[in-house]
Amino acid sequence: MDKFLIRGGARLEGEIRISGAKNAALPAMAAALLTDQPVHLENIPRVRDIITMGKLLAHMAAHVEAPELPPDRVTIRAETVSHAEAPYELVKTMRASVLTLGPLVARFGYARVSLPGGCAIGARPIDLHLKALEKLGASVRTEHGYVEARTPNSGRLRGAHILFDKITVTGTENVLMAATLAEGETWIENAAREPEVVDLATLLVKMGAQIEGAGSSEIRVRGVSALHGARHTIIPDRIEAGTYLVAGALTGGELRLTACEPAHLTAVVDKLRDTGVEIRCEGPHCLRVRGQPQLRACDLKTEEYPGFPTDMQAQYMVLATQAEGSTVITETIFENRFLHAPELVRMGANITLEGRQAVVRGPTALSGAKVIASDLRASASLVLAGLVASGETIVDRVYHLDRGYEQLAEKLSAVGARIQRVR
Ligand code: EPZ
Repeated sequence: MDKFLIRGGARLEGEIRISGAKNAALPAMAAALLTDQPVHLENIPRVRDIITMGKLLAHMAAHVEAPELPPDRVTIRAETVSHAEAPYELVKTMRASVLTLGPLVARFGYARVSLPGGCAIGARPIDLHLKALEKLGASVRTEHGYVEARTPNSGRLRGAHILFDKITVTGTENVLMAATLAEGETWIENAAREPEVVDLATLLVKMGAQIEGAGSSEIRVRGVSALHGARHTIIPDRIEAGTYLVAGALTGGELRLTACEPAHLTAVVDKLRDTGVEIRCEGPHCLRVRGQPQLRACDLKTEEYPGFPTDMQAQYMVLATQAEGSTVITETIFENRFLHAPELVRMGANITLEGRQAVVRGPTALSGAKVIASDLRASASLVLAGLVASGETIVDRVYHLDRGYEQLAEKLSAVGARIQRVR
């Protein structure tokens, strides 16, 4: 099992190119199931989850064509689908497989998808996805760890009014895709507003879908009888960019992030500036961050977009360990997303947990240690801590990182970090 060996203390200086957003690429790949025409996607991040989604679509007999190298572009053609099933073996490694449910039911009238199960950060049910599909006319039953959804007489779904009890990103994406081929109009209320939802809607409209309001909490979809192929470039990864902003701030260096989308990072940039980090927008797709010796503690509450993203909470916690004063971090999205805290305490951080709140007292000197990663973003926070800790840090189970960060060690080494992958 690969590990990262990091020797802390280096200032990061230089330029990092931000990759495409994993959480936009995954629904976009699933959307290709909605048409028998080829869908060409560019700016795809070279990360493990993309490969898993490619395997899943190929398993369904969609034709997935990607250059030999890990794809930065992929063409998917779901002319036919021999079996509309997402098996447990694949779903257990990537919960985003659930995004095939909506497109399969909408186009083929049937889908059988393994229930994703929980993960380190929470139970993560998909009840809201299933309730919404039933509202669209699908009959849904769960047994033996699978969910089966089918339309009456394998016909089309019916447009409906969907009011989500809670804001769900992939729930919104599943329903949005299903509604594009439903008969009549669908009105989604309390929809997720994330940029990844907007990017999916942009692709679907290019494929011939009729969608209004994506990016707001109310989305209207007028179903059409068929969608056609399209070409689309995936938006930059705002969480990858936010992670490197924190890396630059922590190490007292100066980083220039290119190919990013500053408009998707407003809450993150504002919060980092509140702590004293210097961030400048240098052009439409470029951010410059400069570390400051003195950082101020500044409380944080994670919220759905456009609020501060939960996927940046762990990274921000590391910054809080170096800030002067006490920082109260409140995690409102997931019930168990502080798994990185005990590992940071082992490196010398002063963090106390109280349910959904963590109190971080700083600044504390961090010292290198052997630490274990538990989920994608917790792993990123341990790497960030290693960059600023004295001595050596070994981050184990970096497969979590490989799922969502393209060439993390290479990108960090190129700007001066002493990090290498070891077996
Ligand atoms: C998406 O997960 C992202 N994944 C997550 O990123 C991200 O953390 C999350 O949105 C929140 O922004 C992808 O886009 C592939 P939710 P998702 O449905 O859609 C509850 C990463 O690091 N809920 O918005 O699964 C749920 O338990 C990953 O890249 C229900 O109760 O998250 C959670 O508490 C981690 N029932 C809250 O809603 C449901 O049917 C928000 O979850 C669905 C969700």
